[in-house]
Amino acid sequence: PDTAIIVVAAGSGTRLDAGAPKALVGIDSRSILRHALDGVFAAAPAQVIVVAPAGFEGDAETEAREAAGDRIDLVRVVTGGATRQQSVSAGLAALWGDVTTVLVHDAARALTPPAQIDAVIAAVTDSVGVIPALPVVDTLKRVDGGAVVGAVDRSELAAAQTPQGFPRALLESAYAAARASGVEYTDDAALFAAAGHVVRHIDGSARAFKITTPSDLERARHLLAETGE
Ligand code: C5P
Repeated sequence: PDTAIIVVAAGSGTRLDAGAPKALVGIDSRSILRHALDGVFAAAPAQVIVVAPAGFEGDAETEAREAAGDRIDLVRVVTGGATRQQSVSAGLAALWGDVTTVLVHDAARALTPPAQIDAVIAAVTDSVGVIPALPVVDTLKRVDGGAVVGAVDRSELAAAQTPQGFPRALLESAYAAARASGVEYTDDAALFAAAGHVVRHIDGSARAFKITTPSDLERARHLLAETGE
């Protein structure tokens, strides 16, 4: 395949407080990572790099094997780093062959519809990065300590999701530039844009929410129970 999907799953999951790395926490009988990989393997065929928490590479390998089935030859598991950016870097270093499009996906967005992954792949060009995003529904305020100091026009804002897709060559050079500058970016789109490249957005979906807190995990459990997956 000329597409690779880097699934970053190396976060500790401190806010989930489940006593294990977040990606290995069960939603139902399947872990967060397993659900994320099931989604990835239901999308168009791609090389898949799983970035695992240090010490849990074997568990990640097992999950990948079960999700991939006879596509296991398309999978590599590597060890993540201390920050998300370092984990993505480790994933980029593990790409092989003549991949031209790279997607970076949070394992924590475990229920992301495969169609969202396919839509990102379809929208990437050799010069433009793509992110799925949702309109912001909350009323937002600018705050300073305890004071509300201003309103924010939410029509100018969108909530970014993953997978985020990029032309490989430009993403690799943007990562090299970020490493050289020592700046940590909040997502790959910000890092890519900082290197001077264009990022577009397509429609995200509610199901692609990120599992961060125990109530997010509850929401994921309810969604799976509803749809009987
Ligand atoms: O912590 P947060 O939920 O924002 O992390 C987003 C994604 O990045 C998660 O899937 C997490 O596993 C991954 N991550 C990583 N390496 C880190 C930190 C986060 O792979 N050091």
